[in-house]
Amino acid sequence: MGPDKNLTEHWESVYQNQNDEQLGWFEELPETTLQLIDLCHLKPDAKILNVGAGTTTLIDALLEKGFTNIIANDLSEIALKKLSNRIFKKYNHHLQCILDDLTKPQHLQQLTDVDLWIDRAVLHFFLSKEEQETYFKTVKAIVRKGGYVLIAVFSLEGAEKCTGLQLQRYDADMLQKCLGSNFKLIEAFNHIYINPSGSERPYIYTLFQKQ
Ligand SMILES: C[S@@+](CC[C@H](N)C(=O)[O-])C[C@H]1O[C@@H](n2cnc3c(N)ncnc32)[C@H](O)[C@@H]1O
Repeated sequence: MGPDKNLTEHWESVYQNQNDEQLGWFEELPETTLQLIDLCHLKPDAKILNVGAGTTTLIDALLEKGFTNIIANDLSEIALKKLSNRIFKKYNHHLQCILDDLTKPQHLQQLTDVDLWIDRAVLHFFLSKEEQETYFKTVKAIVRKGGYVLIAVFSLEGAEKCTGLQLQRYDADMLQKCLGSNFKLIEAFNHIYINPSGSERPYIYTLFQKQ
């Protein structure tokens, strides 16, 4: 079965109709994510997978830090095109992109030995048990032993909706349960992100390591 058409269309229209700076999750510099990435002490050729990357400036920041093996995933083709065009123009770098739905992946499982899985503001859109289980099955399968999982999602105090979609909010214990005891919690903290319209969006930031 292919990706859910309605949801794909939803995200395509978000990226079609808004500039990056207007998006409710835009960050000029993704400092909080970078703070956790620093704790991983990764080599420059580490395989870093950013799922649901959208048009994030995290890719720019990772290239600026000297990382070379970065993969961006999303189900929005428009977002991935915008992102890879920007990255090529700015850094003359061909970004590897995987167009795939995290809840019904057809390509992502072919990846192996991922050193770092990064999700900011994606997992919380998956409401059914089946979608969540598929997501975590992929994480567990493709992150290498000793590799890291960075998940930043709306916390239990966070908003109930984003871009009109209902959310599942999390705390660190809930994420630990989903990942299982094979993943060790390295760091977790709350962070209040202020979105472009000035509203507070409480997130939980977590970093796990696969044992
Ligand atoms: C709130 S945005 C966050 C974008 C980016 N991570 C950031 O922090 O700037 C959520 C992203 O997840 C993507 N997304 C939503 N559902 C997805 C799915 N099932 N599979 C892959 N990507 C998905 C959307 O297209 C969108 O780019």
